[in-house]
Amino acid sequence: MVAQSPFIAIFITKQNFVLAKQIKFQYFCQLFRTKKKKRNIMLIKELKKDLYYVGVNDRKTHLFENMWPIPQGVSYNSYVIVDEKTALFDTVEIASSGMFIKKVLNVLDGRKLDYLIVNHMEPDHGGSIEIIRRYFPDVTIVGNKKTFGMLEGYFGITDNLYEVKEGDTLSLGEHMLNFFMAPMVHWPEVMVTYDSTNKVLFSADAFGTFGTIDGGILDTELDLIKYEGEMRRYYASIVGKYGNPVQKALQKLSPVDISMICSLHGPVWTKDIERVVGLYDKWSRYEHEEEGVVIAYGSMYGNTEEMAERVARALSIYGVKKIVLHDVSKSDASYILSDIFRYNGLIVASPTYCNELYPGVKSLLDKLQTRAVKNKVFSFFGSFSWADASSKNFVKFAEDMKWEVVGEPFAEKMTLGDEKTQMAEELGKAMAEAVKK
Ligand code: FEO
Repeated sequence: MVAQSPFIAIFITKQNFVLAKQIKFQYFCQLFRTKKKKRNIMLIKELKKDLYYVGVNDRKTHLFENMWPIPQGVSYNSYVIVDEKTALFDTVEIASSGMFIKKVLNVLDGRKLDYLIVNHMEPDHGGSIEIIRRYFPDVTIVGNKKTFGMLEGYFGITDNLYEVKEGDTLSLGEHMLNFFMAPMVHWPEVMVTYDSTNKVLFSADAFGTFGTIDGGILDTELDLIKYEGEMRRYYASIVGKYGNPVQKALQKLSPVDISMICSLHGPVWTKDIERVVGLYDKWSRYEHEEEGVVIAYGSMYGNTEEMAERVARALSIYGVKKIVLHDVSKSDASYILSDIFRYNGLIVASPTYCNELYPGVKSLLDKLQTRAVKNKVFSFFGSFSWADASSKNFVKFAEDMKWEVVGEPFAEKMTLGDEKTQMAEELGKAMAEAVKK
């Protein structure tokens, strides 16, 4: 039964190493090899001389990392250089390995794979390493010391390894690979690889974005509007904590002449390199893109929401055009974080709940602290029915974040009255003046 389908064999391999051995994997590999012999140019894109895209799109997964919604899907990018030696740059998430293997075999066109360069071990990229080893038992895996600790931990792989350090090079024939360590962009083992012959940077997660790449692969072939928000949302959700490591990596790579960036997610960047590097530089410095204000509020019965509307109206009256209100119970945190990275102003509002902040607000503040978000023009307000606990929590949060509080925050008891209505308008005015400074 199992022997009928190589795809089934692949999934079983992930779940049970011993069982996978019993199903004679090489036999299935042979089935693939004999079925398709000619390189299919409709399926495989040559990005630059000798460089091919072999990544896949994932439109099935609802939550990336089982946390972050991806309504427009995501791509797991992978690349092959065919030179005197052949090299594969990273693999893909295990559930997409069927299409991935098909593409790799198609590009290699009967040749063996000499090197697997592992720039990042997170399972959305490292997930198919073991399968690649089964198709190409002699492949040499190229990584750094931390990569190899993870290879052993995830797959028990300890042989056929080639360790590289900062500044090392590896010749594939015409193409020369240069290795740069980029720890904590986004995991500690992350490195990036530069092909100095083609001037191509294989950048791991850096410059990646949510959203599948549909039909086209290069930024010149795609409608980039789809990725404008999704790139920031990807950064804010996945990489947002690692501003300092991103800055170090950008500085290290600044002298490198790059004509193409091959990230592990989203479009391959060519004409838009300056823009996407500029965005990463801005986000990793925690600098805003535009003047504007996010109001993120929790509200059980509409009282705090009414205050949020009043504040928003005052912001508008005093000249702020970019105003985004998020109900934390409805907006996914990734969208709120993305807008917080985009704009300079942030107002958070919460009713008191179980003598604490409203749970959705508490969770949002926790995410901001985890990411050590800086440079926000901040204020807050809230509501309560018998005891105000939200205000003291907000005060502590602002102190912990080292954020200055703008205007005069307030908390209303039960429903909104005249005094607090006036205070809401004053808070909106103060925030409007602060964000425009
Ligand atoms: Fe796309 Fe850190 O993995």
